[in-house]
Amino acid sequence: MSFMRRIGILTSGGDCQSLNATMRGVAKSLYKMFDDVEIVGFEDGYKGLMYADYRVMKPYEFSGILTLGGTILGTSRQPFKMMRTPDENGLDKVAAMKHTYYKLKLECLVVLGGNGSQKTANLLREEGLNIVSLPKTIDNDLWGTDLTFGFHSAIDIATNAIDCIHTTAASHGRVFIVEIMGHKVGWLPLYAGIAGGADIILIPEIPYDIKVVVDAIKGRMKNGKNFTILAVAEGAISKEDAALSKKELKEKKKNGPTYPSVAYELGALIEEKTGQEARVTVPGHMQRGGEPTPYDRVLATRLGAEAAELIRKKQYGYMVAVDGRKITKIPLEDIAGKLKTVDPKSDIIREAKSVGISFGDE
Ligand code: F6P
Repeated sequence: MSFMRRIGILTSGGDCQSLNATMRGVAKSLYKMFDDVEIVGFEDGYKGLMYADYRVMKPYEFSGILTLGGTILGTSRQPFKMMRTPDENGLDKVAAMKHTYYKLKLECLVVLGGNGSQKTANLLREEGLNIVSLPKTIDNDLWGTDLTFGFHSAIDIATNAIDCIHTTAASHGRVFIVEIMGHKVGWLPLYAGIAGGADIILIPEIPYDIKVVVDAIKGRMKNGKNFTILAVAEGAISKEDAALSKKELKEKKKNGPTYPSVAYELGALIEEKTGQEARVTVPGHMQRGGEPTPYDRVLATRLGAEAAELIRKKQYGYMVAVDGRKITKIPLEDIAGKLKTVDPKSDIIREAKSVGISFGDE
């Protein structure tokens, strides 16, 4: 390894469709910018940095991956809250990551990740490492950026699931509940729900009242609509449950009937209260799979190129972000640990309500 400039790169947390496209954007720009650059790829996210599991990448590895889903580097979840807890062999994870960084004489580490990964990126920045990060997640919940890469591709898949359900729901006159990813935030169910023409959208930011949901279904039945489609976030929550403390909720769940997920719980309640048959569809990890959409490929390319530009300018400690039509940068310390949630009072919610979509709240 006799190169002058060595840049590390890793993909961390849940994967998404345009991780490879984004890495390609970074790498192609770097190779074009510098004659003397070497990119070191860490396997399975921060784990590779901790355990010095890496490979020196060849430029050809970044070719032909624009449309390839997943990540050629592999990924893993390394919870931020465990970063200061030694591993099973007593290894100090933060010290180990720093050791690998300095041993390889990295000029900078490029991190592609979601919320937890950005927190760790910020921790490494605080520890003195040069970091440039990129906003990855199908959830679109990263603070400081209008968009994350992966979001648009996931909308496509989740929307397609709702589209497919439409014809069967109408034929059978059933209630269909499509459970869409998003534990804490509802951007994906919101967008896919609107795009797929869902009648009811339930997201964590707007706790629902089951009576309102049931009335919306009954109202449709009265108007001759024999089916209803609900787009429900994994983290959708009733008003009743939202009012409980974490401890009380845990207790309630322990003592009550158990369901595989919120969609099944809603399905049972809806059948009981409307007399209509309910079916549940969970597209699950399909939403993170397959090819990135053209929109995401463009976004990935732009974000990747700007990350390389930050490295060229030696501007470290930032996440590359989207601000309207512009690609910008935002200090990691300003975004780490902050979630971008759906504002129940925002225009998009008002507009969705104005076309008759119910959010189960009123
Ligand atoms: O990465 C984001 C996400 O896909 C969420 O939408 C979802 O709730 C979660 O990850 C699923 O995590 P896992 O892949 O670990 O099951």
